[in-house]
Amino acid sequence: MPGVFITLEGPEGSGKTYQIAALSDCLRQQGYDVLQTREPGGTAIGDQVRAILGNLENTAMRPRTEILLFQASRAQLVEEVLRPHLESGGVVVCDRYADSTLAYQGYGHGFDLEQLRSLIDFATGGLKPDLTLLLDVDVREGLRRKTRGGEWNRLDAYAVEFHERVRRGYLEMARQDPQRWVKVDAAQPPEQVQAVLREIVLSRLAERG
Ligand code: TYD
Repeated sequence: MPGVFITLEGPEGSGKTYQIAALSDCLRQQGYDVLQTREPGGTAIGDQVRAILGNLENTAMRPRTEILLFQASRAQLVEEVLRPHLESGGVVVCDRYADSTLAYQGYGHGFDLEQLRSLIDFATGGLKPDLTLLLDVDVREGLRRKTRGGEWNRLDAYAVEFHERVRRGYLEMARQDPQRWVKVDAAQPPEQVQAVLREIVLSRLAERG
């Protein structure tokens, strides 16, 4: 596929949302045909799935159901939006993708990584990112940012341990595949993080011509 597929991953409070918007703006200014999207969601059907996942009334939602809903949203996004954009030579910048399933449902909740990989493979038809930017931040710092200045210790210990596993999962995946992953220290001021991301992405895009 001639396009370039970039994903942003990271634990809660890593600042992905701001960073991805600023990065997309920069790439557009450089003349790239950029599609910015996110998971779950990114299509009309995917946004309905996102609403089911996010509905606090769905307390009966089973973990396996949740896993499959993430894959359903992803399958729709890949076929409806990502593949066509990449085939036309564009750049895709996606806020979370399959690695979120491995980090959260796999490393975080303990589901078998091989089983998850085969579900992901089915959902995506094997579409993998060319570059994955990991915005890494200390778990307590991230959760503190997420609760807008609240004390981290208001969150129960389970939440902290769960997010520690998620973070370790990300770091492990990044270590195993250094060709695809680049880890960025997201504890730096946002403008500095943005400058680092731009440098990495622009040099990757230049390499690919
Ligand atoms: P979102 O509101 O987009 O949060 P964030 O700004 O942190 O990306 O919610 C996405 C949540 O869903 C986030 O907690 C990570 C989780 N998630 C999974 O557990 N598995 C997945 O496959 C995906 C895509 C997301």
